[in-house]
Amino acid sequence: AADMGDDLERVLISEERLGARLDEIAAQIDADYAGKDLLLVGVLKGAVMVMADLARRLHTPVEMDWMAVSSYGSGTKSSGVVRILKDLDADLTDRHVLIVEDIIDSGLTLSWLLSNLRSRNPGSVEIATMLRKPDAAKVEVDVRYVGFEIANEFVVGYGLDYNERYRNLPFVGTLAPHVYAD
Ligand code: PRP
Ligand code: MN
Ligand code: MG
Repeated sequence: AADMGDDLERVLISEERLGARLDEIAAQIDADYAGKDLLLVGVLKGAVMVMADLARRLHTPVEMDWMAVSSYGSGTKSSGVVRILKDLDADLTDRHVLIVEDIIDSGLTLSWLLSNLRSRNPGSVEIATMLRKPDAAKVEVDVRYVGFEIANEFVVGYGLDYNERYRNLPFVGTLAPHVYAD
């Protein structure tokens, strides 16, 4: 549709609620990492929005780096077999790393990423995610900061895509059935 609004079914989490939750998470991160040197690692492309909005709320000085990964396997489903498309620029030795994600679905991407980054001798590795779907978990991942737990339904917006679209919606929502049928 010419207007993304025509493709929406409903707003699940408004821009205001996302922002208010990020205020709380940023305050926790500031407290937890006080006096430490923090490296934020955003996972492209979904994490772009939460990375930008979270980083701007922090008072702790941070470095921001990015990784692009791709899971092998069928279309929209994560397989757990991950390939690095763009690696970090930063050396992780003795660094405090905070992985920033938009969503944890099956957990397979993050569980792989976690063990990959942990093998690089960092000082610590933790995870911050805006959304988590507990009912979709195939593997348990220990997550330090979670914005919202949501039901196991397909959501878009705030970085999350359907066929690469809708990432630029400022809120999290569900798509109308006609979008999938078109
Ligand atoms: C999505 C999302 C997470 C991952 C979560 O990324 O942004 O990174 O899937 O799924 P999982 O918990 O089942 O592994 P995607 O692979 O679609 O790439 P994108 O961020 O570029 O959209
Ligand atoms: Mn992603
Ligand atoms: Mg995606």
